[in-house]
Amino acid sequence: MCGIVGYVGHRQAQDVIMDGLKRLEYRGYDSAGIVVTGDPELDVVKRAGKLSVLSDVLKTTPLKGNLGLGHTRWATHGKPNDVNAHPHLSEDSKLAVIHNGIIENYLPLKERLVEAGHVFLSETDTEVLVHLIEENYEGDLYAAVQKSLSEVTGAYALVVSHADHDLIVAARNTSPMVLGIGDGENFVASDVPALLPYTKEVIFLHDGDLVLITNDGVTISDFAGNVIDREVSTVEWDAEAAEKGGFEHYMLKEMYEQPAVIQQTLGGRLAGNGMDVQLDIGLDPNSIDRVIIAAAGTASYAGMVGEYLIEKLARLPVEVEVASEFRYRDPVVDERTLCIVVSQSGETIDTLEALREAKRGGAKTLGIINSKGSTITREVDDTIYIHAGPEIGVASTKAYMTMLAAFELLGIWLGRARGTLADADAKELIAALRQTPKLIEEALKNRDEVAKIAEQFKNYKDYLFLGRGINFPSALEGALKLKEISYIHAEAYATGEMKHGPIALIDDQMPVVAIATASPLYEKTVSNIQEVKARDGIVIAIANDGDTEIEKHADYVLRVPETHELISPLVNVIPLQMLAYETANRLELDVDQPRNLAKSVTVE
Ligand code: F6R
Repeated sequence: MCGIVGYVGHRQAQDVIMDGLKRLEYRGYDSAGIVVTGDPELDVVKRAGKLSVLSDVLKTTPLKGNLGLGHTRWATHGKPNDVNAHPHLSEDSKLAVIHNGIIENYLPLKERLVEAGHVFLSETDTEVLVHLIEENYEGDLYAAVQKSLSEVTGAYALVVSHADHDLIVAARNTSPMVLGIGDGENFVASDVPALLPYTKEVIFLHDGDLVLITNDGVTISDFAGNVIDREVSTVEWDAEAAEKGGFEHYMLKEMYEQPAVIQQTLGGRLAGNGMDVQLDIGLDPNSIDRVIIAAAGTASYAGMVGEYLIEKLARLPVEVEVASEFRYRDPVVDERTLCIVVSQSGETIDTLEALREAKRGGAKTLGIINSKGSTITREVDDTIYIHAGPEIGVASTKAYMTMLAAFELLGIWLGRARGTLADADAKELIAALRQTPKLIEEALKNRDEVAKIAEQFKNYKDYLFLGRGINFPSALEGALKLKEISYIHAEAYATGEMKHGPIALIDDQMPVVAIATASPLYEKTVSNIQEVKARDGIVIAIANDGDTEIEKHADYVLRVPETHELISPLVNVIPLQMLAYETANRLELDVDQPRNLAKSVTVE
């Protein structure tokens, strides 16, 4: 959500910034802008729309200079137009500000600044920062930013430059930001991929960090000015891992990476005895008697699969909470509660605040996270990294897959430690887990069959997804994927719940995707499918290879290999992801950057 790139060094800032913003496109945005410190003034270009619109302008009028800031904006306050795009400049055109987040007290600040004679041009909350810093500026940019922040409440990753100084000042409160450390050059960005072509040495900023960046170095202090020593981390990803690698879209590439990345999640964590799991976490499994899983969107559906697994394998009661609700409803939490937060980015504000709420109640905390060094990983007691690598497509695929794998590991680990999972059951499950990469690969081979369904139903307005037991979350995830990237209305229900309402929707204009893979409830699922057929519904069943019975009931069958029921969500999600992808692609929609969505949701 919003992208920031700042550069000071020996290269042309415009090149570094435009390249970096391109690498951050996945975060979601609807306008973009750049400012470069020229001579004697700042040169700025801002445009609504995609980066290509901005690039076209820069081709004819390039901005020359070695210090600059760039921004992709995801609109919160004010429409996505040229004026509201960042950077925002002071009235004398000497000071430039870009900002991610929301300034909560911008209205009283604006009123005061307008009274003092400042003229506002945009509808954004960000613009108050420019006028405030301008008012506090007496020749020292760092001091002006520091003074201004004492008056501001809200969430921000803020980056400021001034025509009279060869330096950048940055500040972080809640919204993520990372420094890139180079040789005679330094960088600041909202996420690591922007930095990868230039440096792998990074410093993840913490809340309350104020930074002075020059080409020689970076100095981090708290808002009171006390210098802080922050660790430099080396990023393991390379720039290539974040590229499309010959695939038409990141989403497609990431779907095909799933057999490999799940091996990274499992790798080294399955013990040699074939029935235990090794997790490098300090949690005492017998010190808890309840689990809360808090997450958003796809990560929350991974959490629902986790609920089934932990309850079944470890006999601990689990509740899954939508993070944005949990934080505001005074939840009952104590020191015998384990709060698990699940997040690809590790920066989702709702999930982060849910974590903080659980901590206030005394809960033990565990993160299931992809991004190393992210804010959530710094605030939890322990983290199980999912090792999915960079996920660029806005619609999550491989992160979901590896979150599921992490929950499989955690469920087994808890079950073994608490004595609720017998040797033979653990062996069976782990043996099946080891087979999963191969089965996912098999499922991915059925792309053509899924593509035919996508072609046939791409112009339908509504879809229904049904699943039960551990595959109810799979149905929710299938519906979410389709909604997100194809903009087709889709709903998901627990299959047995259909007769309590949604069945009224069934007609020959409503394709129903029914998950009917091997399970003790298979027969009941088939009965539910018959109920749909009896009402002229169109049934697309997700069924196991070799299941001939299903052909008698469903209009279309998408095949997946059979596995242990508790592992089936990892395999069953493949045709669901593929259906969404193939549908959106046929509708010629922007698969990797669907409208209105952002990859990392850092505002409430
Ligand atoms: C769906 C999707 C979103 C995210 C959600 C949480 O495809 O990507 O629903 O899952 O915004 O994001 P993270 O996992 O970064 O906390």
